[in-house]
Amino acid sequence: MIKKYFIETFGCQMNVHESEKISGMLESLDFAPATSREEAGIIVFNTCCIRDTAEQKISGNIGEVKALKRADKSRIVAVVGCMTQQKGAAEALAAKFPFVDIILGTSNLYELPAKIVELIERRARHRGKVVAVSFDEKPPIDETVPVTRTSYPNAWVNITYGCNNFCTYCIVPYVRGRERSREPEAILGEIRALLSNGYKEITLLGQNVDSYGNDRADGFGFAKLLREIAAIEGKFRLRFMTSHPKDLSEEVISVIAETPNFCKNIHLPVQAGSDRILKAMNRKYDRASYLRLVDTIRSYMPECGLTTDIMVGFPGETEEDFLDTMDLTKRVRYHNAFTFVYSPRKGTVAASMADQIPYAVKRDRITRLIALQNAITEEMSGEFVGKTYEVLAEDAPKPGKLCGRTDSGRLVNFNGDKSLVGEFLNVKITKNKASALYGEIENNG
Ligand code: 5AD
Ligand code: SF4
Repeated sequence: MIKKYFIETFGCQMNVHESEKISGMLESLDFAPATSREEAGIIVFNTCCIRDTAEQKISGNIGEVKALKRADKSRIVAVVGCMTQQKGAAEALAAKFPFVDIILGTSNLYELPAKIVELIERRARHRGKVVAVSFDEKPPIDETVPVTRTSYPNAWVNITYGCNNFCTYCIVPYVRGRERSREPEAILGEIRALLSNGYKEITLLGQNVDSYGNDRADGFGFAKLLREIAAIEGKFRLRFMTSHPKDLSEEVISVIAETPNFCKNIHLPVQAGSDRILKAMNRKYDRASYLRLVDTIRSYMPECGLTTDIMVGFPGETEEDFLDTMDLTKRVRYHNAFTFVYSPRKGTVAASMADQIPYAVKRDRITRLIALQNAITEEMSGEFVGKTYEVLAEDAPKPGKLCGRTDSGRLVNFNGDKSLVGEFLNVKITKNKASALYGEIENNG
């Protein structure tokens, strides 16, 4: 068997980071990274099920490895993560893709090394396939998993797992279990170690970072965690995602505003601009309170980069509801918005609501929303031109080309040597093409 692995990751940053843990676990078994499926002895699909489009794409990708498996029977194909964790999904996957060897749920992910060993033993007895998907709602947090990081100079750090909010459209609470917070010392220790190893940017991850600590008896919450991180010496950047508008507190906003190391950038999913729809989504805030929150953020940090997630076509959404979403989008003027067509997820409350919206209507609405946001993004991009920003060089996509983000989260493309990745640079924005910004390094001397 070839001792190389290839991981295909789908979905959110949480999954991107979990794939770094999968890499860590596979490297602990002496597997080395491969650059393609063909080169790998083990192929892992780290899956997502947030929308039907994600599931269809993943199924297509899994189907593609059938031939590779036939060509080399010693190959191991594993499907892990959110998609497998839905009711009945593991059985359905095993039936649809008989060549898949290992299926692990979100809370069983950390059993991967043991399951590989188990599979190899079973194969010796001609019985291959290992399925482990447990429905424990509060699986314990494993702090011992090795991590192979792939995103220098940024490092992802989990602060919570799971979600308690049960927005009516969302599958996440069903596949990720109830919210569990990591111990503050584990988080702070990880951040200190990362910074002393040269990482320049830390991104805290949680489905709802603002409810960090709600499951703790000692009242140690997100604001307190941020204050502890603010006390860490040295220059670095801190980002976090995702904030929930019902829980983002003024205290948190003020800590971000007063801490130079904390990026003035908040991802604040609104989902919809109509009160009726927000209520049906179980978002627990209304349009007016959301807009007040935006005002509060901007009163503390006028330059704060605000981004959002917006969904169109939720069951019962009328043209008027949709126009409320358009109007809110115009009022807030987001730097960027991730826009989605509502996709019914089996087992969620919204999937069985009457008045599902026809696809043609959803398509029409998303087209209009995207056009509006593109115009706003372009207009706001223009406001960057001619000014100089501190940019952390994050990547060298091509020789001589760098990209990185401003403190407010805007991506900037500029020329420079790849040895500059990980450096804070002053970059003057020279032009914008639609939403993309282009600049040049200013003499930092
Ligand atoms: N259909 C469409 N979009 C969804 N999201 C979550 N669930 C669904 C769904 N069923 C979107 C939300 C969320 C983002 C991560 O994905 O906007 O904020
Ligand atoms: Fe899903 Fe709502 Fe939880 Fe976000 S807060 S993961 S949208 S249930």
